[in-house]
Amino acid sequence: MKNLKKNTLKTLLDLLYSQIAIVDKDKVIRYANKRFIDEHGKKAVGRECYNVVKEDFRPCAVDESLCPVNKLLDTEEITSRTIHKKGEKDILVEAYRLDSDLYALILNELTGYQYLIKRTKTAEERYKIILDTAPDAIVSIDKDHKIVVFNNAAEKIFGYSKEEIIGKDLNMLVPSYYGDHFSYVKRFLETRKPKIIGKSVVFNAKREDGSEIPVELHISFMEANGEITFTAIIRNVSEQKSLERKLLQSERLAAVGKAVAHVAHEIKNPLMIIGGFSQQIRRHITDKNSLKKIDLILEEVARLERLVANLGDFTKEFRLIKRPSDINLVIKDVLKMMKEIHPEEKYKFVERLSPDIDEVICDPDKIKQVLINIITNAIQAMENGGTVTVATENKDGEVEISIQDEGKGISEEEILHIFEPFYTTRDSGSGLGLAISYKIIEAHKGEIKAISTPSKGTKFIIRLPYC
Ligand SMILES: Nc1ncnc2c1ncn2[C@@H]1O[C@H](COP(=O)(O)OP(=O)(O)O)[C@@H](O)[C@H]1O
Ligand SMILES: [Mg+2]
Repeated sequence: MKNLKKNTLKTLLDLLYSQIAIVDKDKVIRYANKRFIDEHGKKAVGRECYNVVKEDFRPCAVDESLCPVNKLLDTEEITSRTIHKKGEKDILVEAYRLDSDLYALILNELTGYQYLIKRTKTAEERYKIILDTAPDAIVSIDKDHKIVVFNNAAEKIFGYSKEEIIGKDLNMLVPSYYGDHFSYVKRFLETRKPKIIGKSVVFNAKREDGSEIPVELHISFMEANGEITFTAIIRNVSEQKSLERKLLQSERLAAVGKAVAHVAHEIKNPLMIIGGFSQQIRRHITDKNSLKKIDLILEEVARLERLVANLGDFTKEFRLIKRPSDINLVIKDVLKMMKEIHPEEKYKFVERLSPDIDEVICDPDKIKQVLINIITNAIQAMENGGTVTVATENKDGEVEISIQDEGKGISEEEILHIFEPFYTTRDSGSGLGLAISYKIIEAHKGEIKAISTPSKGTKFIIRLPYC
């Protein structure tokens, strides 16, 4: 190599298909091979490379590191590359550090294989952007049930970060009562009989904090180049589910309400007749036994009249008498009354009232009625005594009242029905307390719901808008 003459080297460079130029650190071309001269003309030497290659009078933007020579200036790197667009063509420009002052530029039009690599890279980037801007969660697993794709929306829904979950078993996201999900995947791979692939299904998914949310899944299956991937597009439908539930609830209430109003109306008059005539007859009776019987009739009539009045409460289109009210004070009033009527050694009432709550425009008497209904239920659920904690809090521009008890709780199945009129699990219950409460809160454009852990307790949460 030592004997290699300068001219031999030049000839060699001229034989190459690539365009080669040697530039100094000011980007002035000191030497260009034949292919370079053919492409850019003899006058290329002595001019700046950006002037020649890009036909631009300005250097390539330094901050965007478009210039591969710039990329080498302040680093230890010896090579860097970039792609210049020239009309339709993409030109790959590679820079090599020769010494501290000289750099070789090698230009090649992107063709064939190189083009494929570039396109693959672009496609990959495009795919990543789509993946991470998609509003739905996208999760893929491989044939071993390991998570291989987990996009930004999935991070939000499930509460795991990509780093935590990629490579982990999908069962981390599946509640255990569905069984071993991997066995379904294996069965499908053996039989190739799709059960849910290609269809939309609603399942519960397990989040990082252990809670569950209903999600709608759409699963696809792909087999390419010997690799198997299952991909699920997942949408959080908890909001939709709770809306559906609420709609069903108010529809049911409306339908039952109408029927009840009709029956109550029909009963009222005959009751009045029975009661009135019984009173009249009673005056003419002297026989003790008959008196006893007629008193029993009167007692029962009075009970039925109370029930009908209660039903009226439930079915009537009641009008709210709204005024600015201090909710904390309303709660204090109710708790004071509760303390008076329940033995203090058995039932404790704790208040955690936020001082930041403004006055709420509401009907305080009706809100009182709701609180009494809920706290009475709480007491009834704590046969052996316990504590009822009532708290208030400012939440998203609304007042949240929560009533927590330590009672027997409500099962998942039962909780769906508690706001229905006449739904009761108590022998002497009317099943109207919560139905009336629901109506009152609904009339305030608020929300009421219950969360319960059987045998631990129940929490009722009421949300009231300020006005
Ligand atoms: N705090 C609670 N703990 C347990 N169960 C409750 C609670 N609140 C309500 N429930 C259930 O909801 C049902 C309906 O309540 P409600 O409408 O007040 O009617 P009632 O009290 O007449 O039964 C109750 O029978 C009970 O099964
Ligand atoms: Mg009740």
